[in-house]
Amino acid sequence: MSNSFVNDDVYNNLVDGQWVSSETGKTIEIKSPIDNRIVGKVQSMSTKEVDEVFKAAKKAQTMWRNVPVNKRADILYKAAKLIEESAEEIAEIMIYEIAKDKKSSVSEVKRTADFIRFTADTVKNIEGGSIPGESFPGSDRNKISIVKREPLGVILAISPFNYPVNLSASKIAPALAIGNSVVLKPPTQGSISALYLAKLFHEAGVPRGVINTITGRGSEIGDYCVTHPLVDFINFTGSTQVGQHISKITSMKPLLMELGGKDAAIILEDADINDAVKNIISGAFSYSGQRCTAVKRILVMKSIADELVSKLKYSISNLKVGNPTEGDMDIVPLIDDKAADFVEGLIEDAKKKGADLVIGGNREGRIIYPTLFDNVTLDMRIAWEEPFGPVLPIIRVNNVDEAIAIANNSEYGLQSSVFTKNINNAFYVADKLEVGTVQVNNKTERGPDHFPFLGVKSSGLGTQGIRYSIESMSRLKAIVLNIKNN
Ligand code: NAP
Ligand code: G3P
Repeated sequence: MSNSFVNDDVYNNLVDGQWVSSETGKTIEIKSPIDNRIVGKVQSMSTKEVDEVFKAAKKAQTMWRNVPVNKRADILYKAAKLIEESAEEIAEIMIYEIAKDKKSSVSEVKRTADFIRFTADTVKNIEGGSIPGESFPGSDRNKISIVKREPLGVILAISPFNYPVNLSASKIAPALAIGNSVVLKPPTQGSISALYLAKLFHEAGVPRGVINTITGRGSEIGDYCVTHPLVDFINFTGSTQVGQHISKITSMKPLLMELGGKDAAIILEDADINDAVKNIISGAFSYSGQRCTAVKRILVMKSIADELVSKLKYSISNLKVGNPTEGDMDIVPLIDDKAADFVEGLIEDAKKKGADLVIGGNREGRIIYPTLFDNVTLDMRIAWEEPFGPVLPIIRVNNVDEAIAIANNSEYGLQSSVFTKNINNAFYVADKLEVGTVQVNNKTERGPDHFPFLGVKSSGLGTQGIRYSIESMSRLKAIVLNIKNN
């Protein structure tokens, strides 16, 4: 049944160019983590409706792939403009939907517009090439391979709650740019913000069926979506647990996954301590630490640990804690009670096993106060588990090799930071760390978005980053010319 984008706070899905409500009549209330107010309702779609979405995407892609890349890029430029113009409006939703403060929400939306523009610029320069046969022994001048890049077909994009706009667009834009169609399954908590994004792609001129959305709990329709026969590629960002589950049930389906992390900041004796503190505070506690690339453990040389702990304690005591509707906050309510309970469990475990609580450790509802533990030992859960919350363990080490060994002993391998004034030390550490990215004298972070962004081990599969995402969601086709000399 065709409707408008939203009717009485009930948001519909974009299917084959129409905003449709679900035949199930079932909706999901999206309640704010701040105060449980109802932000809106989204459809809980049926598997039959999921079939319709993928059929529309499949059909539309055969047309979309033939649209000239400069025309596809023009639509992306238009989408970026509309998204940038809607930054404040979308941010107002995000503040209540995911408890992200206004400054961070507006920043996420504007970063998304930049991402899309850069994607449009990049795709116009994605070239193929030609390879002469004669360069290989035994071959000759009569063979030439013309190499093109082609779309994969239907991309299933699945995004997480903490960046519902940016981490949806970071899949949608590169996929569309290279000629795929997209089905977006946004996070339920964040789905309204993501639906706004889809609406703007639609209004920018993305043709019917080329972009579609599916809302509904991942635990209910997720498996059906990821195993759907019409899905040609899955681009997933989320927890390691869900990512590994998807990988297990989707044999042979190509995947791009950005998963959990336990990013370590390694502080060497010659580090600029003040610079390290500034980066650690921002990296560990912004948006309550709900970032995959958050700094999630400190490995510090014993000789400088006391100074570091003292400076961190002071900076943490000045963090802004509270309701993001009342101003820009560092520490906001976590996304739900389950998340807050999990973080509290890590705190209690650390206390029970003898970690020194330097500051924090307390909770008010879904707000966990910024917490720093010193003298954390390797038997404690906080040394290894991803909190996705504002709790930071300090592990004191004797030397750089001990730090590297502990860093590498994690199941995760997203990013790490190393703080040192000596470039040789930096490269020594970077060379040995089993991660996707090593930040030298900076917090762990994804941006800028044209850099390669990847996780190894339990942190992911494949590489994001604008050019890398375009290449991941496309493939080569070789056309070999065999010249006949009559
Ligand atoms: P999540 O619980 O794994 O959910 C991620 C997405 O997967 C959501 O859209 C979710 O839908 C969906 N989903 C859940 N079960 C599914 C299934 N069986 N099949 C298909 N989709 C399913 O993660 P989150 O809580 O949103 O985000 C936090 C986690 O993501 C953290 O571990 C964080 O480290 C990771 N993360 C990683 C990156 C990165 O770039 N590496 C970035 C951000 C977050 P529902 O919302 O409906 O459950
Ligand atoms: O968790 C989201 C991940 O992509 C981190 O992004 O830019 O905050 O490092 P960023």
